[in-house]
Amino acid sequence: MTNPRIALIVGSNRRDSINRKVASALSKLAPQLAIDFVRIDDLPMFNQDLVSPLPHAVAQFKNGIDRADGVIFVTPEHNRSIPAALKNALDWTGLPGQNSWAEKPVFITGTSPGPIGGALAQQHLRNVLGSFLGALVLGGEAYITFKPDLINEHGEIGDESTRNFLKSHLDRFSRLVARHLHAPERSAA
Ligand code: FNR
Repeated sequence: MTNPRIALIVGSNRRDSINRKVASALSKLAPQLAIDFVRIDDLPMFNQDLVSPLPHAVAQFKNGIDRADGVIFVTPEHNRSIPAALKNALDWTGLPGQNSWAEKPVFITGTSPGPIGGALAQQHLRNVLGSFLGALVLGGEAYITFKPDLINEHGEIGDESTRNFLKSHLDRFSRLVARHLHAPERSAA
């Protein structure tokens, strides 16, 4: 049996993004998932005049989402909400009639140096993806306060309790993806 294909989206376009570092460490905690990083950096600014046909970069990005069995988001918080670059990616991929997110298993996490670890960005993202676009967003909250020693010199989550915390979310996410993949109506399709 092949490992489920997971697209991982980092909600930051910053070169030295702490969220990309956490995402990279996170991917090492889930060898049972075939994780591909899908970048949002080169997407043009959403414009409804350009949706047919979709720009090449958007079509490629959308394909990365459509072929994935599930998607992990690791996002910063900007002004207590979703970073513009990430919202842009959602606007391109959630268009009526071309919505990539309906019934897609999703795990949301992210980090911030702030005390609430990007909680509001994650809540807003959960609302857009789950309530509006119809994704199957994993329950539970995974807000990570970034500290310099969070990632060790091997690029792994150095702090044991954070590592176990994230691993337990990833294990639950793996089960959600597996259940969805093996649901009777999907098997019959
Ligand atoms: C921030 N930052 C921030 N942090 C936070 O916890 N809550 C917030 O609302 C904001 N707002 C915000 C707005 C803007 C425009 C910037 C540039 C930054 C700080 C943010 O957490 C910090 O820059 C992180 O390093 C961003 O994550 P990446 O891009 O390094 O992954």
